[in-house]
Amino acid sequence: MTSPQRGDSFTHPDGRQRFFALVPCAGSGSRSGAAGPKQYESLAGRALVLWTLEALARVSELDGTLVVLSPGDDQFAALAAEGDAEAASACWRANVGGGTRAESVYAGLHDLLARGALPSDWVLVHDAARCLVHPDSIRRLIAACRDDAVGGLLAMPVPDTLKRSDAQARVAETVPRERIWAAQTPQMFRIGVLRDAIAAGFARRDLLITDEASAIEAAGLAPRLVRGDFDNLKVTWPEDFALAERLLLGRAQTSKAHA
Ligand code: CTP
Ligand code: MG
Repeated sequence: MTSPQRGDSFTHPDGRQRFFALVPCAGSGSRSGAAGPKQYESLAGRALVLWTLEALARVSELDGTLVVLSPGDDQFAALAAEGDAEAASACWRANVGGGTRAESVYAGLHDLLARGALPSDWVLVHDAARCLVHPDSIRRLIAACRDDAVGGLLAMPVPDTLKRSDAQARVAETVPRERIWAAQTPQMFRIGVLRDAIAAGFARRDLLITDEASAIEAAGLAPRLVRGDFDNLKVTWPEDFALAERLLLGRAQTSKAHA
């Protein structure tokens, strides 16, 4: 379907571990208030998803990145053809996105396998909408999980006191925040284990798979929590665009000052 990145072959005769990124990018961004899918909104001069892919491109451990697009998406191809989009044009693309994030990820896993990835290879699933992820944190996740039996995810211990509400937005109870973490992405698991866990999750009516870890947990495994960063936010609400833009511009200024 597209151009491979960093070499044509998936073979790893030396037996070294391989790491692929899978970026679900097939959502509609219904909560964002944007006219089109939020991943293509312009942020600090470029499409949001380009910032995401640029961060991934700076992680040299990755053997390739697959972007999962919705079947009718022609915006990504147009973006990748632009001069300033090297990180996007270097990715594999698959127009196999589904109705939910889990379905998009599941289809993407099959696409990776069809391209020659092995069930034993690692996949790092990362939301297109998390455009502020730090390459160093992704490296930290890889280092922490590469010799782990299960895998893991970036997450943050929750600092606030937590309240559960009733239907009228009044406090029904305070939830103890001890050992509560907010899950982020990337989430890193073996491709075959994740594929089977999601498939088993789909078969269960009582389970809603909101992230990869929840599928893995339902399979009886305990993913490792690796501390991420507070600014690895998922652009979700209308006000998140301005916040993400400020953070991106702030980083650009900091790196200029250090240059
Ligand atoms: N995603 C996807 N396929 C879907 C739904 C979501 O690939 N059917 C992707 C989104 O593009 C996003 C990531 O999963 O990068 C995280 O999902 P979310 O932030 O919920 O994005 P949307 O589903 O697009 O937004 P909303 O829930 O507000 O509609
Ligand atoms: Mg969603």
